[in-house]
Amino acid sequence: MELVSVSPTYRFMQRISYALSGIYSSRLNPIYYLGAITVFLLVIDVISGIYLFFFYDVDPKGAYQSVEAISSSFLGSLMRGVHRYSSDGLILFAVLHMLHMILTDRFRMFRWVAWVSGVGTLLIFIVIGLSGYLLVWDERAQLTGLLTAKFFSVVPIFGHALMSAFLGTDVKNLGGLFRILLFGHIAVTILLVFTLWVHVMRISRPRLFPPKYLMILLTIYTVAVALIFPAKSDPPADLGKIPFGMSLDWFYLTGFPLFKVLPLSLNWAAFLGFFGLLTLFPWLIKGRRNPPARVIEEKCEGCKQCFEDCPYEAIYMRRVSPKEEKAFVIEDKCAGCGICIASCNYNANVIDTVPYTSMIGEIASESPELVVFRCPFSSEVEEGPGIKVYTLPCVGAVNTVWMKEMLKHTRGVMLVSCDGPDCYFREGVEWTEERFLRKRRPKLLRSLEGGRIRIVEAPSVVSVDREVEKFLSYLRSAEEFPKDVGIVSKGKLNPILAPIVLFVPFLTFYPLTTHRIDFYPTDKSIAVITFKYRSSPVRKAKSSYSKLKHMQAMQNVAIERSPVELSFYVDGKKVLKKVYNPRGLRKDSSIYVYEEFLLTPGEHTFKLTLRETAHPEKVRSIELRRKLEPTTSLALSYQEERGFFVIGE
Ligand code: HEM
Ligand code: SF4
Ligand code: SF4
Repeated sequence: MELVSVSPTYRFMQRISYALSGIYSSRLNPIYYLGAITVFLLVIDVISGIYLFFFYDVDPKGAYQSVEAISSSFLGSLMRGVHRYSSDGLILFAVLHMLHMILTDRFRMFRWVAWVSGVGTLLIFIVIGLSGYLLVWDERAQLTGLLTAKFFSVVPIFGHALMSAFLGTDVKNLGGLFRILLFGHIAVTILLVFTLWVHVMRISRPRLFPPKYLMILLTIYTVAVALIFPAKSDPPADLGKIPFGMSLDWFYLTGFPLFKVLPLSLNWAAFLGFFGLLTLFPWLIKGRRNPPARVIEEKCEGCKQCFEDCPYEAIYMRRVSPKEEKAFVIEDKCAGCGICIASCNYNANVIDTVPYTSMIGEIASESPELVVFRCPFSSEVEEGPGIKVYTLPCVGAVNTVWMKEMLKHTRGVMLVSCDGPDCYFREGVEWTEERFLRKRRPKLLRSLEGGRIRIVEAPSVVSVDREVEKFLSYLRSAEEFPKDVGIVSKGKLNPILAPIVLFVPFLTFYPLTTHRIDFYPTDKSIAVITFKYRSSPVRKAKSSYSKLKHMQAMQNVAIERSPVELSFYVDGKKVLKKVYNPRGLRKDSSIYVYEEFLLTPGEHTFKLTLRETAHPEKVRSIELRRKLEPTTSLALSYQEERGFFVIGE
């Protein structure tokens, strides 16, 4: 029966990860803990965020100053840096974790829940990061807010309203938005706990934190980068001016440069297309699945070992009588790894890909010198005279109980697995080693000579021939065998190279968060019209809608307002003539306008006229002449008491 085996991309990853195991040892290899590293950085991020929260002023008028004040103390600056760089780190490691999942073929079939919730979690990270940047209220915040608002302006409930919060006179609107942002920044972080729970819901004992050694290095590096490159703000935001550029955080604002080159509709297509395809990825690429395990009910003694060992929560215990529980397999969740086959002392768990009876029959009749069990992700071993090779879905399927019978007919047994924590089925190698080292049930019988069994961790990209030869000659020459099973793995940590290699990703944080990008052409100036306008009613409420007194509308409440027509002339040339409708389902709310015009720098005349279409006599207008330098903007706004005026003057 054909088993799920190593794909070309997985082989490529094995090459990289095995080389890294040579530096870190397989047990401390960061590649195997990318998801756990992300969780750990998230914890650092939350702790530093709580510290900043105590000193942050949520009012847009005081926000920038409060952030500057935080940065002016040693601890504040350190915490701000740690908050920024741990946020960048967690995006970087989440994306690396995702790529690792793709390249190692761990994204389909029974893993779909982890995949889809992973994409959701990534999106939530981005939303949190964006809101975090806005809270600083510097030019980066203003431009990020403006570009995000432009992106959402095609959604009818937002329209131009969000944009005019980031440039104009409506500080109240912005203040409200800031409260929502701060609340959202915290609430969505809490939501993460839920999505992460879903993410690992189908995984038993998820590795939520990396080994201590990696946690210590990650903490030191985050603090070091925060000290060497303190997080800085851009100049303060100014509601009267458009910032032409900002220092871009490539970890969070990756898609933003697309605003420069694509129209809004294509930006939406790129966004929805990317995340849509990413979500559907597991269904777009065909894959195979090993056949599932099953439990022979009559043989099951209800010991629960398979229930404890299954790495995918695919086994549950059902009470079949007041005194008896039996194990059952949930086919949909079963990865077909066979790990439960080796959990059972009673041969009650079976799977078609692990034909125990025929294997033992062959071994008994052929009496090979060496029996090798390997998984499809490990090194190839050639069958030859005296060497019998069996490929099982995972070495975790080799039951210690079989050894008593097998060792009667062969000199020794070798298990060739992948690189420990890289096990395609997560816990196969760990459980095998614990079982054969007599630390986990079913333990290898004490009466057996463990020295006649050897476990070799060798992924498909390395050759295990020398180990096979070495073991064979040992089996032939040894007069006595030790009690314990021998394990060969990449076990040495290089104390100099290991810390250096993990520091490399941290070196990218500063350059990739301070890279200045202009979003408007720097050889141009901009004229902007941005305001909120409450037009006159077209219809007013005459009588109440409701019989209930407290729900009755007051007399004279507008139930529909007039649209307005805006005309804008630059140097006598008409550049805009457009009708804007009041917001609200009944068109009874304010009108929001936000329009930008790129201009050649120099002196220009401007004429802006607003007319209420239902009340043609209601006209407001302004005429002015201004000299505009490159990278400067002229923003026109409106207030009932002042009429049209230039903001920021
Ligand atoms: C965004 C933050 C993320 C965090 C904190 C995170 C964390 C984790 C953790 C701790 C595990 C368990 C690892 C184990 O014990 O074997 C895991 C598994 C997994 N993650 Fe993520 N992850 C994130 C994002 C993603 C993304 C974006 C994807 C892909 C779209 C993804 C796909 C998966 C898959 C498929 C597994 C299951 C692996 C298996 O079954 O062997 N994760 N993740
Ligand atoms: S084959 Fe693997 S995934 Fe399926 S029930 Fe057994 S241990 Fe669980
Ligand atoms: S390990 Fe065997 S006996 Fe124990 S619960 Fe599972 S199937 Fe039943």
